Amino acid sequence: MSTIFVIFLLLFVRIASVFLVQTFFSPDEYWQSVEVSHRMVFNYGHLTWEWIQGIRSYFYPTLFAAIYKVLDILKIDSRVFLILLPRIFQALISTYADYRFYNWCNRKKWSLFIIITSWFWFYTASRTLINSFEASLTTIALSFFPWNKFDENTGFLWITALLSFIRPTSIVTWLPLCIYHVKKSKYPVWELLIKRYLFIGLVTGGALIALDSFFHGSFIVTPYEFIKINVFEGIASFYGTHPFYWYFSTGLPAILGIGIVPFYLSIFTTIKRSWDQSTIAIMTSIILTIFMYSLLPHKEFRFLLQILPLCLYCITQFLSEWSRTKSSLVIWFVAIVIFISNAVPAGYLGFVHQQGTIKVMDQVSSIANNYKTQDGHPAKIFFMMPCHSTPFYSHVHKNITMRFLTCEPNLNNQLNYVDEADKFYEAPMKWIRSHLPVHPVNALPTHVVVFDTLVPMISDFLSLYKPIEIFFHADHLVSQRAGHNVLIYERNEQEVKKKEEEKVIKQKDQKVPDEL
Ligand SMILES: *[C@@H]1O[C@H](CO)[C@@H](O)[C@H](O)[C@H]1NC(C)=O
Repeated sequence: MSTIFVIFLLLFVRIASVFLVQTFFSPDEYWQSVEVSHRMVFNYGHLTWEWIQGIRSYFYPTLFAAIYKVLDILKIDSRVFLILLPRIFQALISTYADYRFYNWCNRKKWSLFIIITSWFWFYTASRTLINSFEASLTTIALSFFPWNKFDENTGFLWITALLSFIRPTSIVTWLPLCIYHVKKSKYPVWELLIKRYLFIGLVTGGALIALDSFFHGSFIVTPYEFIKINVFEGIASFYGTHPFYWYFSTGLPAILGIGIVPFYLSIFTTIKRSWDQSTIAIMTSIILTIFMYSLLPHKEFRFLLQILPLCLYCITQFLSEWSRTKSSLVIWFVAIVIFISNAVPAGYLGFVHQQGTIKVMDQVSSIANNYKTQDGHPAKIFFMMPCHSTPFYSHVHKNITMRFLTCEPNLNNQLNYVDEADKFYEAPMKWIRSHLPVHPVNALPTHVVVFDTLVPMISDFLSLYKPIEIFFHADHLVSQRAGHNVLIYERNEQEVKKKEEEKVIKQKDQKVPDEL
């Protein structure tokens, strides 16, 4: 197949995913990337505790900040561009990574088919998610890795060093591969370690420490802070825990889909026959990474993106080997089964499931731009939802007051610590009464964004509001606090006034006995 055709095909698929994947996946897609970039350029945007503590590298947000800066200078910083361009940018990086994957797999047709049909990669490749970035950089590095016996190129180490700095967990993935590299190279171990590994590590680390310190405002080594907080202080377990075997029983089968079959078969064949060193290094890397993640209490599908390219490589190897002896009818049948079984989750999860919290931001933005209270104040919006359920300023691009229920971990080691969102959901009306005074009227948010499941629980409070818009969100709820629909309520000025008057009358009534 011609190179131009392959690149065009990959570009088409990835750019299409920017427009087809319109659902909410992980809060980090916004809160750990474009929200930070927005603040870097426009001076407003929410920084979560991770950025205050300095456990995240600014490298990834800086890429989008550069785009935002150009838009700002050209005065074309419209909300649509702010949302679309970072995703297109990530889609371009992924396209290049896909092309490199194709090269790494010796331009086998199966590699193109597998990378294009992988539902999880289609679902995540154009998201502004650090894990997507990590997956694409990992693929690019792997494609430059000196697999060939006579190849001594160490260019891949620059990417490996970058990845290890911005995602310290990458070190585990790269360790078996680097050991394999050092063993196979004809250069002496110490020469390689000092002249290449140490040198590249120091230069990359130095540059990134400088970048992070510059944006953080003081000297900081983000990977050190990351390891300190996540491992030693066990903050990660704050965000839910799964059983040890979760990645094997749920995580991996879910992201690979039917691909899990050729993946397992590829492991068995490798063990059974060819003790090819490079394949063993790749499989060790996959297994070690999953094992490491299994030890951490906090587990998520997206963490597996780190090893997705390696898994897809194994699948490709197996299928090319397998298809050599099969008739084209059988091959076509298998290909169609793989295609359909990936298209279904990609379509449903990308286009239907959890769409409301993204769609609602169009309306929030229009409220931010157009709404004024009777006495001329701008809108004040309260997201009464689990923390980080929606994107934030990066999807509004207007400096109005917005508030959400926070869920910071127990950073100060308080006894019996409960985060704000948990406190709210324990007794929503009680929380509202103590945190949102009805008087004066202007203290109340002008708009409240909620999931439908919350509405009956706070009907007392919502009697001062009227629903103005409803967005379908999901058929299946991932948590009790989510809902099938997302609603926006607007403050009903007449109701609020009535309530105020009632209060004044009540107070007068109460005064009567005193005066007698
Ligand atoms: C955004 O609004 C807040 C609150 O009104 C204000 O303190 C801040 O200075 C504003 N930032 C910018 C960049 O306009």
